[in-house]
Amino acid sequence: MLRFFIKIFTIIFLLTYIGSAYAGDAEKGKKVFNKCKACHGIDEGGKNKLGPNLWNIVGSPIAAAEGYKYSKALIAYGEEAGNWNEENLDAWLKKPKDLVRKTKMIFPGLKKEADRANLIAYLKENGNN
Ligand code: HEC
Repeated sequence: MLRFFIKIFTIIFLLTYIGSAYAGDAEKGKKVFNKCKACHGIDEGGKNKLGPNLWNIVGSPIAAAEGYKYSKALIAYGEEAGNWNEENLDAWLKKPKDLVRKTKMIFPGLKKEADRANLIAYLKENGNN
């Protein structure tokens, strides 16, 4: 019986370990960010392009880049949701229009969960929240 429990605990431990190894990889996320570059810069103090600058976006208030003219829809979503976090960013990047129906970010979304997790890790790395 004891052996049985030891086995179970080993399995749980291994699964947890493997799970954490799958947390976002910022290096891979940098490549995914190539899909965003046409519209977004990510340098600190960088300019807004067609979309707002994304420096320090994780943990920051939604629709708050200085000098950028957001859609009413994203401003309204920001008033309701507050800050960007891993959860709402994941939903946003999966399909922006599913989260904020009338957003002006014309981007179909990233279907692969791993792409989104890696990208969010990259976004986090480019910030100091
Ligand atoms: C075709 C241009 C375009 C592409 C490509 C694009 N975006 Fe956007 N993005 C926008 C626009 C425009 C907005 C402003 C949306 C609004 O005001 O409704 C925006 C807004 C955002 C916001 C909200 C920023 C804030 O200040 O609250 C995030 C986060 C974001 N984009 C991330 C990304 C990421 C990550 C990618 C790549 C996977 C991406 N975008 C691809 C145009 C784009």
